[in-house]
Formats: sequence, structure tokens, C-alpha cells
Amino acid sequence: MKNADFLTGITTSGTPHLGNYVGAIRPAVETSRDKQLNSYYFLADYHSLIKNHDPKLRQQSALEIAAAWIALGLDYENCVFYRQSDIPEIPELTWILTCLTAKGLMNRAHAYKAAVADNEQEQDNDPDKGITMGLFSYPILMAADILMFNAKKVPVGKDQVQHLEMTRDIAARFNHMYQNLFVLPEVVVDETSAVLSGLDGRKMSKSYHNYIPLFDTEKNLRKLIMKIQTNSLGPEEPKDPDTCTLFSIYQAFATPKQTKEMAARYRQGISWGTMKNELFEYINEILKEPRKRYDELIKAPSDIDAILKKGAAKAREFSVPFLEQIRKAIGISSLG
Ligand code: TRP
Repeated sequence: MKNADFLTGITTSGTPHLGNYVGAIRPAVETSRDKQLNSYYFLADYHSLIKNHDPKLRQQSALEIAAAWIALGLDYENCVFYRQSDIPEIPELTWILTCLTAKGLMNRAHAYKAAVADNEQEQDNDPDKGITMGLFSYPILMAADILMFNAKKVPVGKDQVQHLEMTRDIAARFNHMYQNLFVLPEVVVDETSAVLSGLDGRKMSKSYHNYIPLFDTEKNLRKLIMKIQTNSLGPEEPKDPDTCTLFSIYQAFATPKQTKEMAARYRQGISWGTMKNELFEYINEILKEPRKRYDELIKAPSDIDAILKKGAAKAREFSVPFLEQIRKAIGISSLG
């Protein structure tokens, strides 16, 4: 097994939504099919322990995310698709890296700093209130995910860029301290892949509760699209496509030509009712077939388990011998 050309993780703490599709799933599905590339995709279930303390939800989310990726066309035979928790070498490497990571580096992590800043607003003024060591050391686990497979490129959202910088820092430190074993991974932030707006116009996100699930029923998809906020312009009045949530969602799915035509119809005046209907029809058409596959997959979790186990076995063809090398480099190997 070769090291990863592309690697990315998806935290299992929610239901996959339209924003995940255009931002992460769609580009990954494309890469997964490329026969020249060795790409790794995994369910980051250990990462989900940081925020989510509900075992059922974690399990359900892993099932839904795996089913969604497969239903949308991930080529799991060509790529390596697995669960983080099926790779015991990752937590082992995490500890090794923890022991060479500067605490000061972790102090600077955005997520940790934001949590401290929130606490400092509070009355009792305990800056570490509610902050676990998991949250604090989260970037080291992420570094281990990446370095375990010596990934060259890591596609992530903008909020993860700092974690990649930290990963490079940690890798360089290991290489310097012990042996030059790690590739310094490059971050890939796809500027072209859309950031989708949600029901209220803010970025579509689980934390804002403004998302449209990918595989809800057709009826609910329609209902949610009808709920997207618009302004109070009358049916015939010209409208601005660039500030419209409906338009931005349409654009994320449609071809450039269709998008241009729709923009022209905005300027001529299209009623919100018509636009919402067309948007629903358009997205529903795209999701119809995947939705069928998804519903079948959800009913057959053991099939998904089997796919993930096979993926883990493939991944471990790399991680087991590589960890052996790492252990040797740090002086933890046979005494003979
Ligand atoms: N932290 C990432 C996120 O929240 C998920 C993730 C975990 C990840 N491990 C990773 C992404 C390794 C890329 C590589 O989005």
C-alpha cells in the first residue's frame, strides 16, 4: 500500500447536509475515482468524542455519513475508506507525537483560544471551565491521522488551515529529533468549492441549526426549501441574485450556463414562489437516485461495516509497518 496522495477526515457528529455535499463530499467523490491517485477518506469518530457525548448519536452519525458518501458515489474500491477507530496505530502515534509537541503550540489553537475567551466573559472567571484535554490536544490527533499515512495533500475547510500548519510543525520536529520519516503535508483549501448558505442566510452549518439534510424525504426537502428566507420584493420586481440565498444554493448545483440564465431571470423579476419551486425540483432531481441508494444502505448497516472493515485492512497495510518504523526510530522495538 502506498502513502496517501489525498487524505481527509469527517467528524462523526451530525447528519450530512447540502453544505457538506458541495463543500466536501462532491470534490472527494471525484478524487476517489481517479485511478492515478491514492486517496484516503475516514470517519473521524475519535474526534467526535470532543464535543459529542452521546454514544447513540455518534453511532448514528457514523452510519449516516458513511451511507451518504457511498450513496453519492464514493469509489470505495479505488480509494481507502475507513473508520479512524479501526486503526489502532493512530492513537499510538498520537501519544508519540504528544510527547514532542510544545504545549505553547497547542495554546495557540483557535478552537482552544475561543473556548478560553468565552469562559473569560463569564462571571466565575475560570478560563478552563469545561475544556477537556481532548479539546486542547485535538490538533495532535489530527496530525497523527495525517502523518500515519504520510499524506501529501489534505483538503479541508478554511477553519482547519491552522491544524495543518501545526501538523507540519510537529512532523518537522519529529524528523529533526529522531529520523526523517514524515512528509510535510500540504493543505488544500478549495476556493472554488462553494460555501453554502443555510435557511437563515448564514453559512449552512450544524451549529446554526440552519441546514438542509441531504437525505430527508422529498416532502421535507420541499418544506425546508420553502422556509429559506427571502426579502419582501413583489413577484414581478427585479431581484439581486448575488445577495440571495436561493440563488447561491442553485449556483452550487447548476452549470455555469444555467446559473447565468437564472441570474438574468432574477433581473427580469422572478417570484420567490417560482424560484423556490424550481430550486426544489433541481436539487431533488440530483438527489433522487442517491436518496434511494442511501435509504437501502441505512437499512443494511452490516454492509457498510464490511466496506469500512475492508478499508481499514487496506489502510493498515500502510500504518502497521510504518508505525513499526516509527517505533524503531524512537527506540521502542525489540531489545535484541
Ligand atoms: N478536524 C477536521 C474537521 O473538523 C476533521 C478531521 C479529523 C480531519 N482528522 C482529520 C481533516 C485529518 C483532515 C485530516 O473538519
